[in-house]
Amino acid sequence: MSREIQIEAVHEALGRVKYPGFAADILSLGIVEEVAPTSEGYAVTIRHASEREEVMRTIAADIHRTLTHDLGIEKVELRAHRVEAELGEKTGRERLEGVKHIVAVGSGKGGVGKSTVAANLALALAELGLSVGLLDADIYGPSVPMMFGTGDAHPASVDRQHFKPIEKYGVKLISIGFFLGERAPVIWRGPMVMGAVRQFLKDTLWGPLDFLIVDLPPGTGDAQLTLAQQVALDGAVIVTTPQDVAVLDATRAVKMFRQVHCPILGVVENMSGFICPDCGERDDLFGLGGGERMASEEGVPMLARIPIQQEVRSAGDAGKPIVIAAPEHPASRAYLELARAIVARISA
Ligand SMILES: Nc1ncnc2c1ncn2[C@@H]1O[C@H](COP(=O)(O)OP(=O)(O)O)[C@@H](O)[C@H]1O
Ligand SMILES: [Mg+2]
Repeated sequence: MSREIQIEAVHEALGRVKYPGFAADILSLGIVEEVAPTSEGYAVTIRHASEREEVMRTIAADIHRTLTHDLGIEKVELRAHRVEAELGEKTGRERLEGVKHIVAVGSGKGGVGKSTVAANLALALAELGLSVGLLDADIYGPSVPMMFGTGDAHPASVDRQHFKPIEKYGVKLISIGFFLGERAPVIWRGPMVMGAVRQFLKDTLWGPLDFLIVDLPPGTGDAQLTLAQQVALDGAVIVTTPQDVAVLDATRAVKMFRQVHCPILGVVENMSGFICPDCGERDDLFGLGGGERMASEEGVPMLARIPIQQEVRSAGDAGKPIVIAAPEHPASRAYLELARAIVARISA
């Protein structure tokens, strides 16, 4: 009898199972790897990355209940596909009130596309149904106002100490650019940078957030340190290009995060090959596989490969990142994959 239940119905039912503690479902988060009919029912394979055992048990129980109870499938077989992920040591630093997870996006080098990754990652997480904030910790070179086309929006101060983030495309934003005006030069020195980052973290009314993404300045300086000292980071995403020099700098960034006991979630290789819009052929403009090599040398996962595409740049320049401007674009899909990979690596 259960053989008559179509696989589409199973997929639809799995789409109603939420990831514990999140509004997003296990299907959109990529937790479900395979659904296959068996002689008496269905077998469901779920990805087991860094989820805690109790999270996996909850997911398995929810799948079982949904398929047997809601669909009347007689026999549901659950298989787990274990994916190794490095989560390292948890820091003992304080959590931000109302913010479930803080993920930093860093790089060793400027211009590798870190801000573009941070912005599109934030939007992709929001696309998955999560509530997301983006903190632009690049005090000298803020890029959030331009990438999100916020014009001359200024955060409203509430009680002379706390301020409301600017909201755009469903993501809450804060950037030094909102306070100074995009073109004003910033001449602050080290201690002021730390002060600004601390204020952005603690005095912004982030409200309930599933994820706060922090766009770090390049390198391993004051902003990185302040962030690591002030709050409990769930992990860092390291952006690099396939070139050797960028990889070298990224390796340095990995070591810095390890020193401050921030787990490395993995590596994003950006500008990873150009896909010709006419013929679909791939051209490896910036070398090949640097991110992958580094990931394997450092023992961290490779999270995503984002192709170099003119549309990515023009979307950012136009104040409407590619995930919003062209959700079906190959780069947008890569950012969505990245978002899923990150959620999968962080347990609820
Ligand atoms: N995948 C990509 N394809 C094309 N252009 C990109 C891509 N990623 C980033 N860029 C462009 O490269 C430039 C630098 O990116 P940005 O995100 O500001 O780097 P960073 O924050 O590391 O300094 C920007 O003009 C951006 O639009
Ligand atoms: Mg930047």
